[in-house]
Amino acid sequence: MFEHQPTDRWIAVENFLSDAVVHPDSSLRHAVASALAAGMPPIEVAPNAGKLLKLLVQLSGARRVLEIGTLAGFSTIWMAQGLPDGGRLVTCEYLPKHAEVARANVDDAGLGHKVEIRVGAALDTLQALQDEGAGPFDFVFIDADKENNAYYLEWAIRLGRSGTTVVMDNVVWEGAVLDPGMDEVNAPGIISALEMLGGDPRLDATVIQTVGSKGWDGFALARVR
Ligand code: SAH
Ligand code: DHB
Ligand code: MG
Repeated sequence: MFEHQPTDRWIAVENFLSDAVVHPDSSLRHAVASALAAGMPPIEVAPNAGKLLKLLVQLSGARRVLEIGTLAGFSTIWMAQGLPDGGRLVTCEYLPKHAEVARANVDDAGLGHKVEIRVGAALDTLQALQDEGAGPFDFVFIDADKENNAYYLEWAIRLGRSGTTVVMDNVVWEGAVLDPGMDEVNAPGIISALEMLGGDPRLDATVIQTVGSKGWDGFALARVR
């Protein structure tokens, strides 16, 4: 009945916007290509979302950024591009292979001196960061295993400060937030995090739905009170 599925149009518009407005540089385009070549899943944020992360880092004046979920470093590079001289980003990645690809991409982008990639389960790395007295982080991007999203939010508060910006990816998950049976592994963690975003007095938050190359999803934006 329809000539195109909505998804085709969403992707066409996203590509147009990316070319017309977003302008990912060659290091970002290389990061996506390298991930694909390495057989990694194409689950990095869309370019317009990556640029939003960069702008939010700049607008918030962040000097210390914490990322949970590195993949090939696409979102890492966007955020590190928003850091001032002397700014630092710590990113947590479980898989050594992903961390290795990300390291090469971050170095290729000329950002190696700003970015530390920590390999291991993020919950362990976050505990280690606290034990080391790292932080406070001004900006936290949560984008790893969705089951732990509420725990990651707790860590964002713990390692943050009043005014810390928190962004959480994948909070709509094709609508599974209304129908957890669609994904019994990930939906409950996403829903728990949304309940915390809306109910925890230490947070002030909103959620934006998105469509495009990554399907139907959304991200939460929160501020630590
Ligand atoms: N932020 C990236 C995409 C991250 S995809 C971008 O937009 O470019 C999610 C990543 O989280 C994957 O690389 C996966 O290996 C990693 N991950 C999954 N579980 C994890 C855990 N428990 N601790 C740390 N990283 C984890
Ligand atoms: C998956 C993870 C992500 O962070 C994402 O943006 C999309 C998909 C996944 O694990 O399938
Ligand atoms: Mg994501």
